[in-house]
Amino acid sequence: MATTPFAELHMHIEGALGPELIFALAERNRMHLPYSGLADLESRYEFTDLQSFLDLYYANMAVLRTAEDFADLTRDYLRRAAAAGVRHAEIFFDPQAHVTRGVPLQEVLDGILDALGASEREFGVSSGLLAAFLRDQPVHDAEEMLGELLRLRAPLLGVGLDSAEVGYPPTLFEDVFARARSEGLHVVAHAGEEGPPEYIWQALDLLGAERIDHGVRCLEDPALVARLVDEEIPLTVCPLSNVRLRVVDSISDHPLRTMLQAGLRVTVNSDDPAYFGGDVGDNFAQLRSGIGLTDAEVEVLARNSIEASFASEARKAELL
Ligand code: ADE
Ligand code: ZN
Repeated sequence: MATTPFAELHMHIEGALGPELIFALAERNRMHLPYSGLADLESRYEFTDLQSFLDLYYANMAVLRTAEDFADLTRDYLRRAAAAGVRHAEIFFDPQAHVTRGVPLQEVLDGILDALGASEREFGVSSGLLAAFLRDQPVHDAEEMLGELLRLRAPLLGVGLDSAEVGYPPTLFEDVFARARSEGLHVVAHAGEEGPPEYIWQALDLLGAERIDHGVRCLEDPALVARLVDEEIPLTVCPLSNVRLRVVDSISDHPLRTMLQAGLRVTVNSDDPAYFGGDVGDNFAQLRSGIGLTDAEVEVLARNSIEASFASEARKAELL
């Protein structure tokens, strides 16, 4: 675990939905689950790539119906994150994945924001919310969702881009992101997880991404690494996610140290803690045993996370 306070900048709140909460919410909402029991569900957490994970991730979201469900999920995440040492959290949610199931956007926002609003007092974790657009859905849906979020005056920190990456380049979303930026929102994008370095270039040049989520494939392109170093663009890397989604073969093969040594602004994050074997503390623990991550490296990663956050300068100063 980090020895200094740190920020988690890349986690999907729906990815904090674990088997026990899935069963509890299904019961509360009187829903039938297609699993014979907890063990049956747990046996399905073997992934071969990003899509095989996304199939289960979207299916399990069916149990999230009410504001109370979203609040319980968010509180559950914040409690665990605080215990792992997180003092500031920037959380993605996938609004399109809920409205297409008939859950009103306001219901989703009310639940998540209720928990985030109490987070600093309840858990000592300051927080912000990022709406992620689903890149494998029509661009028009993302445009509509942004319009709806703005109409509802959702108190967002910014927007992101997630879901199946290959075949859905950032270029498709140039106009949506331009509008988000013009509304004063921060912009980030998943790029270079399974997709090629070219998608990272596009996220920077066409979307104006201030941070790259994942970005591990930048190492295949020295000119891109030089650009990321030069412009001090943070990369929100998720080591356990990379192992479970077979982006890397094992934690010992993770290029985190190579990235640090290249001068990249790396941070460590959990992505989907209920699916990939643990929270951000577990990511640090496995990096310590897997690649011999040192205390000094943990310090750098912790500092990077605070500096790369969209927290106020006052909050950053408190945490640094
Ligand atoms: N949505 C949730 N987790 C994701 C990931 N690792 N990559 C892309 N989209 C996601
Ligand atoms: Zn992610």
